[in-house]
Amino acid sequence: MTKFLNSQVALYKLRQLWTKPHGIWYKYSINLPANNMSNFSPPDAARAVWRGVRNYITKRPLVVSFEVTLSCNCNCRHCDLGGIIRDEKQIKPDEFARLTRSLDPPLVQISGGEPLLRKDIVDIVRAIKQSRGTSYLMLVTNGVLLNEHNYLQMHKAGLNQLSVSLDFPDERHDDFRRHRGLYKHLDETLPQLARFGYRDIILNTAITKDNLKDLLPLAQKAKEWNVSISYSAYTPLRTGNSSYSINDGGDLELLRKTIYELIELKKRNGHITNSRAVFLNTIKFFEQGHMPNCKAGVRFFVVMPDGAFVPCSLHRHRYFNQRDMMKNFSRTNQCGACYVSIRSYTDPSIWKLLKDAPGYGKRLFVKSA
Ligand SMILES: C[S@@+](CC[C@H](N)C(=O)[O-])C[C@H]1O[C@@H](n2cnc3c(N)ncnc32)[C@H](O)[C@@H]1O
Ligand code: SF4
Ligand code: SF4
Repeated sequence: MTKFLNSQVALYKLRQLWTKPHGIWYKYSINLPANNMSNFSPPDAARAVWRGVRNYITKRPLVVSFEVTLSCNCNCRHCDLGGIIRDEKQIKPDEFARLTRSLDPPLVQISGGEPLLRKDIVDIVRAIKQSRGTSYLMLVTNGVLLNEHNYLQMHKAGLNQLSVSLDFPDERHDDFRRHRGLYKHLDETLPQLARFGYRDIILNTAITKDNLKDLLPLAQKAKEWNVSISYSAYTPLRTGNSSYSINDGGDLELLRKTIYELIELKKRNGHITNSRAVFLNTIKFFEQGHMPNCKAGVRFFVVMPDGAFVPCSLHRHRYFNQRDMMKNFSRTNQCGACYVSIRSYTDPSIWKLLKDAPGYGKRLFVKSA
């Protein structure tokens, strides 16, 4: 009983520290520029930190990924999805809202498949945001169906981040995604959307053997389009294809050199979102061929289109609830086969996560040069 009361007092004090006007976050954000157009405010950030600390301590998720459909209008070379699934069982916006409320994570990700294929995607965004069960809402898309109209609708409905996948800084992207004209479409659309000044667009690049030499040009492309960029590591687990893995001496050397250059570039202009620690672990992941201590099912998990819970996109055993998943999967999980963003950002200890929080806030609130 005393232990329970002590933990409640500790949680209350942490909440005060981050959310009250004299708290850490407010001190940090006092010099915010007046022209911050992002729809994520410092109080939202404070709420996210509070939710994160509480969920970390109580073993509830830091990130929930809603895979709203497994249908897709691309057929990428690194992915096991592709093509339209007929008669897929899909839960409705109000069910996403109910799940968000009950799981109450600081960060919700909408993904797939291709989420923009859902005709009710704006309603899903709105329902999740209005449920008040999340602080930060992001959506990952291949961008095929992205245009000014749906971008503005999603922004208005409360979307905080739009992640758009980009694997090459030119037409090789079309070949990799098996979708002709996609690069040209992104090249025309993204700079135009960035002009609204919401600073919510982030390119998502999965590092493979094939785009290793393009990682710096991709960062330059992001700068040119006036958007940010985030890198994650290719995993062969989706397709069983190891030919995109980086595992031989020469490629690993180039990877190390390039990542150190990206770390330097990040210091000069803040449009690269990976932390130094995540970058260094990405090198380690490719060197070792795996990354132990995955917290799938505990710190994050995936909700399937029909509402079933699965630990991650690569282990699709279905569970009734999180407790069941932790007991029957997470407790004995030895898999370390990926180092994608959802796990790299939730792996660290609470102290490390708190230490990195102002860095993420800086991208949202402080205008870079
Ligand atoms: C599965 S997709 C779903 C969202 C959307 N269809 C898209 O491509 O952005 C989410 C992210 O996973 C990445 N991805 C797909 N296969 C991967 C793999 N084998 N290893 C690492 N990332 C992968 C994609 O590049 C994309 O950025
Ligand atoms: S990576 Fe995304 S766009 Fe490509 S096939 Fe997979 S789900 Fe579709
Ligand atoms: S390392 Fe974790 S997130 Fe990645 S495939 Fe394995 S269980 Fe899933």
